[in-house]
Amino acid sequence: MKKPVSTQDYIDREEKYGAHNYHPLPVILEKGEGIFVWDVEGKRYFDFLSAYSAVNQGHCHPRIVKALNEQASRLTLTSRAFYNNVLGEFEEYVTNYFGYDKVLMMNTGAEADETALKLCRKWGYEKKGIPENQAKIIVCEGNFHGRTITIVSMSSDPQSYGGYGPFTPGFVSIPYNDLKALEHELQDPNVAGFLVEPIQGEAGVYVPDDGFLKKASDLCKAKNVLFMADEVQTGVGRTGKMLACDHEGVRPDVLILGKAISGGIYPVSAVLADDDFMLVFKPGEHGSTYGGNPVACKVAMEALQVVKDEKLAENAERLGKIFRTEMRKINSDMIELVRGKGLLNAIVIKPTNGKEAWDVCVAMKENGLLAKPTHQHIIRFAPPLVINEEQLREAIEIINKTITEMS
Ligand SMILES: Cc1ncc(COP(=O)(O)O)c(C=O)c1O
Repeated sequence: MKKPVSTQDYIDREEKYGAHNYHPLPVILEKGEGIFVWDVEGKRYFDFLSAYSAVNQGHCHPRIVKALNEQASRLTLTSRAFYNNVLGEFEEYVTNYFGYDKVLMMNTGAEADETALKLCRKWGYEKKGIPENQAKIIVCEGNFHGRTITIVSMSSDPQSYGGYGPFTPGFVSIPYNDLKALEHELQDPNVAGFLVEPIQGEAGVYVPDDGFLKKASDLCKAKNVLFMADEVQTGVGRTGKMLACDHEGVRPDVLILGKAISGGIYPVSAVLADDDFMLVFKPGEHGSTYGGNPVACKVAMEALQVVKDEKLAENAERLGKIFRTEMRKINSDMIELVRGKGLLNAIVIKPTNGKEAWDVCVAMKENGLLAKPTHQHIIRFAPPLVINEEQLREAIEIINKTITEMS
């Protein structure tokens, strides 16, 4: 195939040589800086997806890029067959940062979730005394924890699980935000854990009722069940606090992080827990070749420090309120609902004049702002947290104009 020139050429090449497991907006990005990305034709866009909340610190943050470059030219990967001089530094840093005894590093969010599930089952057998192979983990309908076979076994979305059976047993699903259902399932003494997203991101930014997380965590504690928070999307400042659980003063027994822990520069994920739980893993029982490599450690340390130094959670809290207020002022029947926390927000679109959320996203792209529909009628808005008020208001104007023109 000849060298691509136009946007369509790039799309055709991916179509021809790549698996068709995504349906991207028709824009070919080649550069990013802060809250902006540029396409191959030099057009600039506000990035209101931030790679599904991985790029909280903004594209190519100079401090994180520097950390990457310095470590990449020194030592990149040793595997865990040997010690390296950076892993311990990161482990000390991140456990102090989030207040846990121990951390276990992986690469992707899905791997971190798998790690939590394994930890939970093992703890259930070794510490809680659940009979062999009987452990159950409670999950929520509408969850999204990744794409592995075990993880899609927990899913209620046919797009995620369809065609992939047989599924991993041992999961019990309850409606999200339903304390009664949780309390009911917790009667079973074989329950080892409850896995929950503090806000369901992929499902469409579903925010549970105030107090849900606190009560759920208390119920789990009372039944000696691990409360496991998947903060892969909500963590690291996104919702206006360092962790979404912080809004209710909840400290999960098992904290699952990914995405923005490395600012979109390198795949890093982590599971944090205290000794009572984490030490169920013995040498050789779990791991990953790239997990805890020196580049990941340096990148993640710098990325987390940037979030603190630049007060990104505080910025998300303040600007998120402005965003929701302004979205609710848009005079259009197309907007059914606005919801979210911090800078993780969504609007629910009512199809109008034959136009759906996808068409709104394509039109916003034309007007210089990138966002993506989730579940057909919902558009998530999650800009990098380094955005300032003036930029946010400019972006709001684009969204307003686009939706008003389409209504
Ligand atoms: C809450 C949550 N958990 C896990 C994942 C999976 O992360 P990854 O795509 O890095 O495997 C995602 C991805 O969107 C997520 O939103």
